[in-house]
Amino acid sequence: MAEVILKNVRKVYPNTESKKKKKKDEAVEKKNNLEITDEGVVAVQNFNIDVADKEFIVLVGPSGCGKSTTLRMIAGLEEISGGELFIDGKQMNDVAPKDRDIAMVFQNYALYPHMTVYENIAFPLKLKKIAETDADGKTHLKKMPNDEIDRRVREAAEVLDITQFLDRKPKALSGGQRQRVAIGRAIVRSPKVLLMDEPLSNLDAKLRNQMRAEIIKLREKIDTTFIYVTHDQVEAMTLGDRIVIMRDGYIQQIGTPQEVFNHPANLFVAGFIGSPQMNFFENCQLTKTAGGYTLTVMGETITLTAEQSAKLAAAGVESRSVTAGVRPVHISLGESGIPAEVDVSELMGSELHLHLAANGQDVVAVIPTANIDPMAYARHTAVKFGFDAKLVHLFDADSEKNLI
Ligand SMILES: Nc1ncnc2c1ncn2[C@@H]1O[C@H](COP(=O)(O)OP(=O)(O)OP(=O)(O)O)[C@@H](O)[C@H]1O
Ligand SMILES: [Mg+2]
Repeated sequence: MAEVILKNVRKVYPNTESKKKKKKDEAVEKKNNLEITDEGVVAVQNFNIDVADKEFIVLVGPSGCGKSTTLRMIAGLEEISGGELFIDGKQMNDVAPKDRDIAMVFQNYALYPHMTVYENIAFPLKLKKIAETDADGKTHLKKMPNDEIDRRVREAAEVLDITQFLDRKPKALSGGQRQRVAIGRAIVRSPKVLLMDEPLSNLDAKLRNQMRAEIIKLREKIDTTFIYVTHDQVEAMTLGDRIVIMRDGYIQQIGTPQEVFNHPANLFVAGFIGSPQMNFFENCQLTKTAGGYTLTVMGETITLTAEQSAKLAAAGVESRSVTAGVRPVHISLGESGIPAEVDVSELMGSELHLHLAANGQDVVAVIPTANIDPMAYARHTAVKFGFDAKLVHLFDADSEKNLI
């Protein structure tokens, strides 16, 4: 049981010689746009979140955006450069990792190869000292009794369905089984908070899906707050109660999977969440009329809904050029609409993924195959596409913020 609060948390990695050198040919070297100050590289800043007890939070974002750094600061493996971390109301900035009542699972399972699965899971309990008050009123730190260790190891093994492997060594296990042992070793201590850093990324696609389902089940069985890091948006969407989308050390949006999917705060979130990626149409004319707003995309004008118009009016948006976003599943083909030509047609079983060339732009449409003949959409076929006004997202061309 634990509530985890981060207040204005910041991490600066001091400049090292090699980093300073790198800065010079930045244009080639730098993939991220992390802020660089005199102190060093700012890997995380303005990080604010209140994680509720037993909540499952997922940190997601591209490589180098600061996910692991944030997790490691919560674990105490990385010093917090600024701001405050609270676990269950207690400030933890300077508390040693072992005293934070946290367990962490990494991408590489880091099991002890010479120990059996049982010994691997039991290991943290053997190290753990528990406070016990004697008859004389004095408190002593004692080892956990062996029968208690045994009970806990078997319970964790049961939860993770690895009881049959308890006597094996890790080398005789598959990747997914090893990862379960690593999780077992983490949960056996009943930590307040379970931190997981890309725990599934070493597994192949099928195993990853299986383990994802295991983790969903696991959280129902144990009373722990989860903070989970991944760069895979599908994992984030399926596991998280709330998702934290990060970029260049900053939080972009915090919300439920539905919220971030339906109302991405900005262009980055819109492009990051959802696969295939949202289509963006730049330089679309948004026009304020007496009755509401209209939007012109590639020469086709649509009328926005009353709700959308009300939001734009409330925000004082005048006629201007905007970036429109439409998800591939929301693009429909029909008799009328924007003319385009099929460039690539990918049949994915129940769906057809079409890359359409329209005005020199690639537009992706995902069409259910149930009621169409996929062969009718071969390369170079001329089509017309459109979308429902209520499914369009509008972004400010400069700030990239969502306007509605
Ligand atoms: N010890 C360090 N010294 C200096 N810079 C570091 C250090 N560790 C990480 N960084 C930088 O901080 C940034 C954030 O790193 P972090 O490991 O948190 O990213 P991440 O989001 O976990 O990425 P990935 O998905 O690749 O694991 C990166 O740009 C990285 O280069
Ligand atoms: Mg990482």
